[in-house]
Formats: sequence, C-alpha cells, structure tokens
Amino acid sequence: MLQSTRMQKKQQPLVIGNWKMNPTSLAEAKKLFVAVRSALVRKDIKVLVAVAAPYIYLSDLARLSPSKRIEISAQDAAIEKIGPHTGEVSAHMLKGLGVSSIILGHSERRAAGETNDIVAAKLLAVLSVGITAVVCVGEKERDVHGNFFGIIEDQLRSALEVVKKNQLPRLVIAYEPIWAIGTGNTATAEDAQEMKLFIHKIVADVFGRSAVSKVRIIYGGSVNAKNAEELLEKGDVDGFLVGGASLKATEFTKIVLIAHNHGQR
Ligand code: PGA
Repeated sequence: MLQSTRMQKKQQPLVIGNWKMNPTSLAEAKKLFVAVRSALVRKDIKVLVAVAAPYIYLSDLARLSPSKRIEISAQDAAIEKIGPHTGEVSAHMLKGLGVSSIILGHSERRAAGETNDIVAAKLLAVLSVGITAVVCVGEKERDVHGNFFGIIEDQLRSALEVVKKNQLPRLVIAYEPIWAIGTGNTATAEDAQEMKLFIHKIVADVFGRSAVSKVRIIYGGSVNAKNAEELLEKGDVDGFLVGGASLKATEFTKIVLIAHNHGQR
C-alpha cells in the first residue's frame, strides 16, 4: 500500500490559470495579467504561478513578466517540430517565446478528438525541448463501482510510456474530472486525495517509489477562493489548474495566497 503522501517531501505549490479562449483582446489580456502581477508583487510568495493564455498573447505577456515571477504557459503544442502543419505551433517555438510549461490533453481538447496516443506524442515533443508538461487526466462521470479509475489509469499509463525517469520533475499531472470543469461542482477533498494516491500508485508502479515525490499532482475543476484551502489541506493536492476563477484577478490571486499560506504551515 502507498503510504500517505503527507509523509513525503512537500512540493512548492503550483497554481496555473487556464485562460482558455479568453479574453477577447490583447489589451484586456495585458490588463488582466498586470492586475495579477501587481497583486503578487510580494517577493516572498512561495508558489509557482503560471498563466496559460491563448497563443497570440504569449509573447506580449512574456514581456510583461521578465523576471518570470509569473510564468507563461501554453494550452497545447504540436506533435511535430516543424513543417507543413497548418494551424499548429511547436513546443520549440513556444519555448522561444519564453513559455515555461504547456498544458496537454485538456478535456476540451480531448473532446475535440485528441486521443491518449496524440497526448503522448505531444508530451514527448514538449519534454524533448526541456520544458514542463502539464498533462490533464479526468473522467466524464463517476460510477459507484469505481470504473472511472480505469479511465484515469489508461490516460496516465499512455502518457507515462513516453517519459524518461529523469524527466519526471518536468511532469505535472492535473486531475480534472470533466464533471467538475466549469460547473461549480468541485470534487470533494476526499475524492481529490484518493485520486492523488491512485496516480502516485501508478507512477510508483512504472518508475519505482522514489519517483512519486518528483511529480506534482494538481487539481482542476471549479476551483475558487472558497474551496482552495480544503482541497490543499484535506485533498493534499500540490496546486491547481484554475479556469473560470483565473479570469478574475482578485479571485485568482486569493487562490495563490491561500496556496502560499498553506505551504508555509
Ligand atoms: P474551471 O476550469 O476552473 O472553470 O472549472 C478548469 C479547467 O478547465 O482547467
């Protein structure tokens, strides 16, 4: 059996704002980013904070964060490095803009046809350019028999197949139950903790027990300033992928400060 994750070394919390296809203009994107940056100007905030914005805003936002106090993330990347792939953007190009991490396999992309194999191929591409990959896993619905664990296991094992052990510190797993995304129905802290243990069990099975402390497991799905503390405390997650609440600078920064305070205890 896995020992409680509390016994293991605590990771610095990671909070990523997933802006999705928002806001509608560069001016608004910059305004939102600057508002978050100003609220987090304190140097002692011990949280890794990132904003995953639409591609077209990334280079402007990177310029607004030269110190990388707030890191820049992308929401997807191509499998290929270069060539005739209309509409695609490579991990290498994103890295060149100053992007530090890339979300892969978000359920909204999986709903648009992205399979586990595609996510794995993208993961290989992202890790090979030396940046962090945030791989999303999550079930559509929960059943009383726990069959959803099998879905998470398939998604996870397929991704882990392309990861080398020394790349694990650059792998983040975001557990995002689809039924919790944008619905206001957050997973309970107990559900989140149980899933974190399950993910650890699979990581340990593939890479050995020592690997478990290297991979951050974050939670996403209707995270807000009201439920963040409980998810960190009882759910024991290493941070959050925040959608809707990341579009409100005050709410997002509250979540970051909650993660900071939690990490200090
Ligand atoms: P939500 O989205 O916080 O609006 O539920 C999370 C996500 O899709 O990453």
